[in-house]
Amino acid sequence: MTTAFSRLIRDVPDFPRPGILFKDITPVLADASGFAEAISAMAEPWRHAGVERVAGIEARGFILGAALARELDAGFVPIRKPGKLPAETFAADYGLEYGSDRLEIHTDAFQPGSRVLVVDDVLATGGTLVAALGLVERLQAQVVGAAVLIELTALQGRARWTAAAPLRATLRY
Ligand code: PRP
Repeated sequence: MTTAFSRLIRDVPDFPRPGILFKDITPVLADASGFAEAISAMAEPWRHAGVERVAGIEARGFILGAALARELDAGFVPIRKPGKLPAETFAADYGLEYGSDRLEIHTDAFQPGSRVLVVDDVLATGGTLVAALGLVERLQAQVVGAAVLIELTALQGRARWTAAAPLRATLRY
């Protein structure tokens, strides 16, 4: 597995608030080889996991999740910020590294037992991923695991991932 694309990740200090060092993946996405490498590296552990649906978390989880769904021959389901999904939804509130928010999913997004991979760009405190996990489980889907491109290990978000299914990060800082 190559992680040469990691050189394209840009550190932006004090975004979105003072004291936060933001990992900006837009240069990875803009580079054809870098984007392909990143998606291939994220997909690698899941190629034989029988993933049927990728659930991507708004907003950067949409970009990576949709590409990963294609790579894994799976469908894509959006987990969105409040008020964005048109049909009936379930909601979950969660705390963020900087603030709080809510996630929603369509109540009919999965058939019970569907094999679902949850995808986001970054694992920080873990609140977002755990909220997404709760929504997928509420729909009685089978969580195959979670894939993030970047894990910020100092924030110990992994400790909040209590599912039996694995949480895999491609890069750790
Ligand atoms: C960022 C990031 C993850 C989340 C990780 O999203 O994309 O989704 O924070 O933080 P946590 O592990 O502490 O919960 P953000 O809320 O900034 O949303 P965006 O992708 O829409 O910008």
